[in-house]
Order: sequence, then structure tokens, then C-alpha cells
Amino acid sequence: MTAPTALKIRHANEADLEAVNRIYNREIEHGTATWDLEPWTIERRRVWWAEHSDPLQPVIVAEDGAGVVGFAYLTLMSRKAGWRFTREDTIYIDERGRGQGVGAALLGALIEEARAIGVRLVVASITSTNEVSIRLHRRFGFEMVGTLRNAGYKFGEWMDTTYMQVDLGVTRGELRVASSE
Ligand SMILES: CC(C)(COP(=O)(O)OP(=O)(O)OC[C@H]1O[C@@H](n2cnc3c(N)ncnc32)[C@H](O)[C@@H]1OP(=O)(O)O)[C@@H](O)C(=O)NCCC(=O)NCCS
Repeated sequence: MTAPTALKIRHANEADLEAVNRIYNREIEHGTATWDLEPWTIERRRVWWAEHSDPLQPVIVAEDGAGVVGFAYLTLMSRKAGWRFTREDTIYIDERGRGQGVGAALLGALIEEARAIGVRLVVASITSTNEVSIRLHRRFGFEMVGTLRNAGYKFGEWMDTTYMQVDLGVTRGELRVASSE
């Protein structure tokens, strides 16, 4: 799948927060990729943004001629220092942009970000019925490592989550801030 030619992948900035929140809230209300049940207020999104101003937990967006069409970011799995080389990835594409290679463009760029800052392991926690996301992650070398059964409950149903991981290998053994934009 090839991404639309006009697509630009870049680091997020504060002006993107409305679009990021709109895309995520749509999934809260209509999808099962997230088990959040209540839409995020923009104030909550701003708190999240403050946490992700840390360049070691970067946020990137995909932008086309109509604006931000998707976002992806890395989050620490744990604040305990021994976890510092591990991140969880998150990725959401606006409904209008799905199935056109935007997710692949974003996830590819996010993994490069992870590599650039010295992350070793990237983990994805994916609702087990989400075949598109599982396929997307497989494409970038993620393998399934386990399933938590009945871990979530949404829209009147119990849901499983599948953990996938990609090991990027040992880099310099220390984290560093990426020098690119
Ligand atoms: C999952 C998601 C991020 C994938 O992004 P996308 O831009 O739609 O996916 P892409 O177009 O890059 O395609 C990725 C792969 O899935 C396949 N795919 C895409 N849409 C598909 C569909 N509706 N049915 C079957 N396969 C599909 C593509 O063929 C591609 O596979 P390939 O690499 O083997 O060719 C996006 O659909 C999304 O945001 N969905 C809702 C939220 C979500 O599920 N987020 C992930 C939470 S873990």
C-alpha cells in the first residue's frame, strides 16, 4: 500500500491538538480500538500534550491537503527506570484516510523515531479483533507475544487485547534526543 503523494509526516505541535482529539474521540464513541469510554476534553488533551513534550515520548502527525489525517506517538510503558528503553505505540487515522497507506507511513516513521532516540523495544496493545492494526504492525516486524483475555468491556462485550512487540536491537545503550525536526 502506498501513501497518498501529498502526505507529510512531521512532529506534532500544539495547533494539532484539536484534530488529534477529534480523531481519538471519534474512535471512543464508535470504535473498539480504544477502551476509553468518555470523550477527552481539550483540557485533558493539553495535559497529555505536556507529558509528550518530552522528546523521548514523541508525537507525530500525518497531514494531507485537508489537514491532519492521523497521529501516532510513543509512551513509556513504565516510569521505573529499568523500562527506559521500552515504549508503547499508539496510532489513529481519521476515518476519511483509512486504508490508503497513511497508517503504514506513520508507523514506519514512528519506528524510525524510536530507533533514533535509542529505544530497543516497541510494544503494541491491540484489541484482538482489530485485524487491520495487527496486520499493520506485522508489516513492521512486530510479532505476537500474548493475549489478555476479557481484559476490556465496551459496548456490552468483553474484549481481549493482543500484545505485539518489535525488538529494534541494542543501539548505543543510552537514550538520546533525535536531532531531526
Ligand atoms: C489501524 C489503522 C491505524 C491502520 O491504518 P490505515 O492507514 O488504515 O492502514 P494502511 O492503509 O496503512 O494499511 C495497513 C495494512 O492493513 C491493510 N488494510 C487496511 N485497511 C484494511 C481493511 N479495511 N481490511 C483489510 N485490510 C486492510 C492494508 O492492506 C495494509 O496491509 P499490507 O501492509 O499487507 O498491504 C487505522 O485503520 C485506524 O486508525 N483504525 C482505527 C483506530 C485503530 O485501530 N488504531 C490502532 C489501535 S492499536
